[in-house]
Amino acid sequence: MESSPEKAALAGDTIAREFAGILSAGTVFRRAEPLAKHTTLRVGGPVDYYIEPADEMDLAKVLDFCRRRGISFFILGRGSNLLVRDLGFRGAAVCLAQPVFAKIAAAGDQLVCGAGARLKAVALEAKRAELGGLEFLEGIPGSVGGALRMNAGAMGAATFDAIDRVRVMDFCGHVAVLTPSEMAVSYRQCGTLKESVALEAVFRGSRADRAEIEARMISFSKKRWASQPSAPSAGCIFKNPASVPAGRLVEELGLKGLRCGGARVSDEHGNFVVNDGGATAADILELIGMVKEKARQARGIELEIEVEIIGE
Ligand code: EPU
Repeated sequence: MESSPEKAALAGDTIAREFAGILSAGTVFRRAEPLAKHTTLRVGGPVDYYIEPADEMDLAKVLDFCRRRGISFFILGRGSNLLVRDLGFRGAAVCLAQPVFAKIAAAGDQLVCGAGARLKAVALEAKRAELGGLEFLEGIPGSVGGALRMNAGAMGAATFDAIDRVRVMDFCGHVAVLTPSEMAVSYRQCGTLKESVALEAVFRGSRADRAEIEARMISFSKKRWASQPSAPSAGCIFKNPASVPAGRLVEELGLKGLRCGGARVSDEHGNFVVNDGGATAADILELIGMVKEKARQARGIELEIEVEIIGE
């Protein structure tokens, strides 16, 4: 009788062949791709199928195939807000990493940006086009799609504050253009993008002098370097509770520097957990659990995790 790993391998071969049958040659398809390579925390086991669609048509085919075959999938951005468990993810990671999804074009007071574009590139293009109000995107280490999905923010602003409209594809492959009020947006989340994929966003800026924009970007960047760690992390681990910023709370609880294996609560900012080199996802999760427990016991505060946690 075949053992179950052998059966799983055979099923994997069949699915891989079927994927190959529907996708164009430009689509990147890999099996057992280590997700540690694709997350800023540098941890996480392999995903069964790693796919970079060549275009929107192939993306629609991937989504449709996963739905029909009951294959779990997730959309992978730059992995900067993602914690993948050590055994990886059974299913597919779909990543809009090909240049076709990363275009940025200025049009009047707007910037039309592909979901795969880096936020830093968006901020730089806004500066070039003399559009103010998008400087806060400069230091967020993510893609446009990820920033929309998390309604990522920095320096007192959040992504959707600057969004005019978003083109999305639902998991059946249908495309629609939505305004923020139609997208169930709140602090650090966007409900619509749990059930669809952002393809392109139109950011809104306001006319500003390039030197003024540059000065704001420099001051944001200085503030960030002074208060946040440069070691591998996933940004802020917790959402800020209403009563106190999570970073300050962790500091007040004396938890900075607390360690679990290769994971450590940052000394620079209490809401960051950094990977000191050899951390596993299990180390990081245990450390997060310790911080949560202490906040609950000492202050009665239920810290809510901001980063996305997936895998087994
Ligand atoms: N603070 C401390 N000790 C610390 C960290 C912070 O006392 O270790 C204090 C600060 O002095 C400040 C307050 O807590 O008075 C808030 O800190 P900070 O200005 O660093 O902002 P934050 O609320 O901790 C938010 C975002 C960050 C973003 C920064 C910068 C959240 C959860 N985090 O952090 O976003 O970079 O503002 O604008 O809203 C992320 O979402 O992943 C992220 C990094």
